[in-house]
Amino acid sequence: MKIANILVLAALAVPLLGGAADKEHQSALLQYDKQIDGIISQMTLEEKVNMLHAKFMFVSAGIERLGIADIKYADGPFGIREEMQPKGWAGLGWETDKATFFPTGSALAATWSPELAYSYGTGMAREARLRGKDMILGPAINIQRIPTGGRTYEYLSEDPFLSSRLAVGYTKGAQDNGAAVCLKHYAMNNQENNRGTVNAIIGERAMREIYLPPFRAGVEEADAYGVMSAYNKVNGFWCAENDMLLNKILRQEWGFGGMVISDWGGTHSTVGSIKSGLNVEMPDQKYLGKALIDSVKAGKVSEDVVNQRVREILRVRLAIKPIPAEKANKEMTSQPAQQKIAYEVASKSIVLLKNDGILPLKLKNKPVIAVIGANAIQIMASGGMGAGVKTLYEVTPLEGLKNRIGDKAEIIYAKGYEPVAFTWGRKTPEQLEKEKQDKELSTQKLTKEALEVAAKASVILFIGGDNRSVESEGSDRKDIFLPSGQDELIRKIAEVNPNIVTVLVSGAPNDLNVVKSVSKALLISWFNGTEGGNALADVLVGNISPSGRLPFTIPVKLEDSPAYALGNYPQGKKNADVFANLVSETDPAVKSQIKKEEPKKEDPNNARYSEESLVGYRWYDTKNVSVMYPFGHGLTYTTFEYANLKTDKEKYEKNDVISISVELKNSGKMLADEVVQVYIHRINSSVEWPQKELKAFSRVTLNPNENKTVKLEIALERLRFWNEKSHKWDDDLCKIELLVGASAGDIKLKKEVILK
Ligand code: BGC
Repeated sequence: MKIANILVLAALAVPLLGGAADKEHQSALLQYDKQIDGIISQMTLEEKVNMLHAKFMFVSAGIERLGIADIKYADGPFGIREEMQPKGWAGLGWETDKATFFPTGSALAATWSPELAYSYGTGMAREARLRGKDMILGPAINIQRIPTGGRTYEYLSEDPFLSSRLAVGYTKGAQDNGAAVCLKHYAMNNQENNRGTVNAIIGERAMREIYLPPFRAGVEEADAYGVMSAYNKVNGFWCAENDMLLNKILRQEWGFGGMVISDWGGTHSTVGSIKSGLNVEMPDQKYLGKALIDSVKAGKVSEDVVNQRVREILRVRLAIKPIPAEKANKEMTSQPAQQKIAYEVASKSIVLLKNDGILPLKLKNKPVIAVIGANAIQIMASGGMGAGVKTLYEVTPLEGLKNRIGDKAEIIYAKGYEPVAFTWGRKTPEQLEKEKQDKELSTQKLTKEALEVAAKASVILFIGGDNRSVESEGSDRKDIFLPSGQDELIRKIAEVNPNIVTVLVSGAPNDLNVVKSVSKALLISWFNGTEGGNALADVLVGNISPSGRLPFTIPVKLEDSPAYALGNYPQGKKNADVFANLVSETDPAVKSQIKKEEPKKEDPNNARYSEESLVGYRWYDTKNVSVMYPFGHGLTYTTFEYANLKTDKEKYEKNDVISISVELKNSGKMLADEVVQVYIHRINSSVEWPQKELKAFSRVTLNPNENKTVKLEIALERLRFWNEKSHKWDDDLCKIELLVGASAGDIKLKKEVILK
């Protein structure tokens, strides 16, 4: 669909999209409806409305008179937030609310393991329940549209299928263990700059095929009880009052039975919100408090609508058993069982991008290992703005190395660079000048120390990357370069000692041109939770093989990425000038894709999604843009052989499932995991498709010389496209090629089958 038409569609969106797809899912929450009829019949209008807004910062009210408990929320997504002041953003300073810091979203996604996502959800729920919380504000499952997105580290992947499988795992794990989830942020919260004002202008097909699937899967397959509406607008309507998103798609099509809460401060109206499907205004009562009572009395909102919104909350309240105040907070939130889950996820998330044989580290003769970089000692549980965990503990990379090989190597450390630190508010020119001078002095000193340490060592572990002040809620990064002059520093280190292993502690893509060229091995170890340092050390020394796979593409340069290349991001004139400089250096291949018109000088709040479905690898593959590391990439300390790709049939009908088998052999010398990935390429399709799309994957553990037949399935239903003319899912029955491999850039076997 042409973008110009989308705004027109936005106005028509409500009637056009209603009831468009078949509803197959029925929420188990509906079982409470009879009981709820009885409760609602006893409630006054005031009592009902009292449930539809915040009582405290992270609490919404029940009905005390009827024995219905309040609902208590906890951020999420990667650890239960500390106990907060009832009406403020400060913590209460308790001792027992120290939680387990779980690896953040992109780390979880790098495991490519729905089973680990289930354990993760289990761990989150257990800690939520210890604290008396009913609903976890997570998982955060928006698609990573731009590499600079401030919350990329919280989100899972650029791919809807991988995100969906993990969202389902997390949701089931949490809800099977007694806590509701809140899938966030619904929908199209794909950037943090201007997130409170930006309007995502997006075609239905891209929305349905790329951005909504993780939410749909969380609802249809895992019966998620909660959804958080995003701050932004979608096609002209705020997400908290978006009838199409909330009533039509979420509830009518997907059969969502639970409650929608606004993002904090993301409600904008009374009548629009309540009618469009919002249940709870958080953390205020500006619109769904007295204003709502007045609107009902004035006849602008029928009490039936209020009853329905109350019903949806009560369903969740009845499904999640409240924990009496005297039973909550009796133990420390973080518990060993959860710390173990955090370790398991971390140990399977670390991605080995490059290795010329320097890893695993050789520890004969007690080598001198120089650890250089501020991220070797930096805590990542909190920082910047937004979701932080008051973690019981966090093993840093340096501590992890000391724990694992303190007696087998001499470890010497230098900080190397001054990390970016988050500050609130603006600085005066004098403050900025002083900071600049201090920084120059400190850079000289830190560089000198780093080079001295480097000269003494047989191998250098450069531990850099971003941090939680660089990647933060509320703002996107300006670029993806390593901050704090790390490229310059590592170049200097390489002149002194070329035996460099670089570990990037980042939650999002970085520009790797320099570090890749000067490092003999390169890894990403994410914001990896309470046990992150131990997991990293285990990988570096070879106690375990690395087994994480990239959940996003790492581009050669930022301006190659789709939203940048097309001028869709950053938006607005000021940003457009920055962008103009960026594109002047762009590859001719990418430049040819840049739209002729200049959308850049327009309203900074219009985020055009004209790349449509070509997000992440879908773009790079389709447009033949080379990448630094492809989606799905990750090396191990062993080798795998793929053979004998088979399908159960040659021709499939539209309701069939394609059963695929492939022989996998560990042909190396170490136990390791491989993630077998199946992409499809459509050959004679009737509509346009990306070059390839991930449709199945499986993480397999094999001993040296072990063989296994790996079985994977693709339901044809999963191959449908959203027909923008008829507003429904349609089959595109054509010849397809199954591409089986170790990443989007490493296809080992191919086979054609026919869909008819
Ligand atoms: C974030 C949400 C979070 C909420 C409460 C908002 O700023 O966008 O993800 O759950 O704050 O902390």
